Amino acid sequence: MIVVIDGPAGSGKSSTAKAVAANLQIQFLDSGALYRVATLVYLNSREHNRSFFEQLEESEISFYFKKEKFHAFLNGQDVTEEIRSMDVSDHVSEVASDPKVRAYINDLMRKAVKQDVYIADGRDLGTAVFPDAELKFYMIADLDTRAERRYNEIKGSDPEVTLEEIRKNIAQRDEKDSNRDSDPLKKADDAIEVNTSDMTFEDQVAFISKVIRKELSKQIKK
Ligand code: DC
Repeated sequence: MIVVIDGPAGSGKSSTAKAVAANLQIQFLDSGALYRVATLVYLNSREHNRSFFEQLEESEISFYFKKEKFHAFLNGQDVTEEIRSMDVSDHVSEVASDPKVRAYINDLMRKAVKQDVYIADGRDLGTAVFPDAELKFYMIADLDTRAERRYNEIKGSDPEVTLEEIRKNIAQRDEKDSNRDSDPLKKADDAIEVNTSDMTFEDQVAFISKVIRKELSKQIKK
């Protein structure tokens, strides 16, 4: 079974999905993190004057979820922290707009979720990657709230970063993610919309967990 949460950057989908996964003891898949790993490959290929896609196809991307943390690996090396750098954030939307990259990451995700119950977060999971997902959520929040959340999340590991810089990065990514030709950020018609601007984190987790529990018990009875 697969549950998806789509929404714009900083809407709280990743942290909520992680807490829900831990709560319900299911797996979590952070699709944005996989696009970030692909972006590391892109930055690396640019530095070494190599073909990006060739290098991506030769790369081994893997991940696991443990103790509420999604760990990402590139060729066996833990890149969980590196993929959150501003350099990666500044290029990820551009890399993710390439249909070949999207096909590659989508394939990786579809293979990964076959074995277990997963909650995955992204931009186009309910519309393009898992159109038949048993449950779909679409999470939104206003830009200022999202910028502040992201700032609090990364200021510890990147003390140079400013709130304004993050606000600008998120606004630019919203624009690029929503307007690209290839599988843009979009609410699926059958997704449940959750506006988190005025919700506490605990409320978000409790609401989504409750809906999933209900669906899980329906699936068990089938
Ligand atoms: O969730 P995030 O902010 O870490 O995602 C990073 C970027 O990856 C985001 O700006 C757009 C892209 N992305 C995407 O295009 N499709 C997805 N399903 C998930 C992320």
